[in-house]
Amino acid sequence: MRIGVLVSGGDCPGLNAAIRGLTLRGADLFGHEILGFRDGWRGVFDDDAVRLDRAAVRGLAGRGGTVIGTSRVGPWQDGRDGVAAVGAAVERNGLDGIVAIGGNGTQTVAHLLSQAGIPMIGMPKTIDNDLGGTDVTFGFDTAVSIATEGIDRLRTTGESHQRCMVLEVMGRHAGWIALHAGTAGGAHTILIPEFPESLDDISAWVTHVRDRGRTPLVVVAEGFTLPEMDTEYSRKGLDGFGRPRLGGIAEVLAPLIEERTGIETRATVLGHLQRGGVPTSADRVLATRCGFAAADAVEAGDWGTMVSVNRNAIEQVPLADAAETLKAVPAARYQELRMLFG
Ligand code: F6P
Repeated sequence: MRIGVLVSGGDCPGLNAAIRGLTLRGADLFGHEILGFRDGWRGVFDDDAVRLDRAAVRGLAGRGGTVIGTSRVGPWQDGRDGVAAVGAAVERNGLDGIVAIGGNGTQTVAHLLSQAGIPMIGMPKTIDNDLGGTDVTFGFDTAVSIATEGIDRLRTTGESHQRCMVLEVMGRHAGWIALHAGTAGGAHTILIPEFPESLDDISAWVTHVRDRGRTPLVVVAEGFTLPEMDTEYSRKGLDGFGRPRLGGIAEVLAPLIEERTGIETRATVLGHLQRGGVPTSADRVLATRCGFAAADAVEAGDWGTMVSVNRNAIEQVPLADAAETLKAVPAARYQELRMLFG
């Protein structure tokens, strides 16, 4: 088998471990020839690839980012016929198929290409953990660990000054990072995209925390909206996929909370610190297992599927299960915490 592998969309910790897993098992055990396309679909169209073998992935399990790069270039961008362009690249490079590592957008693209007859296998990644068809994505555990450390650090400085601290974490459409880090760090209020909350309620929770002698700590996901907002807060233009670049809702909320409660309130936007750096051991293990499973799927010719985690077992699911799906935080998971806000 001769395959290409690419990463598309935002990077996340664990990508290199996944590429290493795919390469070790695929190349060493099955004798696959593996081309790593640089910068996602850009490398596919420009025939910009590096040969991946055991030596190329040496020492990568714990390295953050992705050694083959990523981008937000889509196959259909700039008026291109995505199916024709990817099909031609597959032909030119003599590939049996492509392994696409990515989140929602990438798995949707992989599904469309697969339906058009291009052999595709998906591998799930995103710190947001919002991809359907899988219980969890690698990168999430690391992001939660970093966000939890952020809460722990803000708590001590907040307590020292009796300030309300607002920590903004990533999470465009789903609040998994905020929910898990907020739970782990004991945040007093957790604000996520799935469930808008009013400024009245937020201020009441913050005031209540202060009144019982504690220093309020609020975690907010970047995609959170107040009921009166018709879209997420964005002030940084559009990304490569044409979506608004999010970030900054904490800076909107902090002065509003301060004005309503009279408590000095400071905002911290954690941003890309959640995505960079070394993966946790849990993410390294998960990503390696996903890489192994992708190599098995290639060997078995299990095209049109995505590697998926189901109750800790790794299996293949149809790409259709992941395409255009959003794994949102269920109301019950949010409500059990919301009852304790304040
Ligand atoms: O990969 C998902 C994500 O981390 C989102 O939470 C966030 O909105 C986005 O990527 C930001 O990515 P970038 O800064 O690369 O545009």
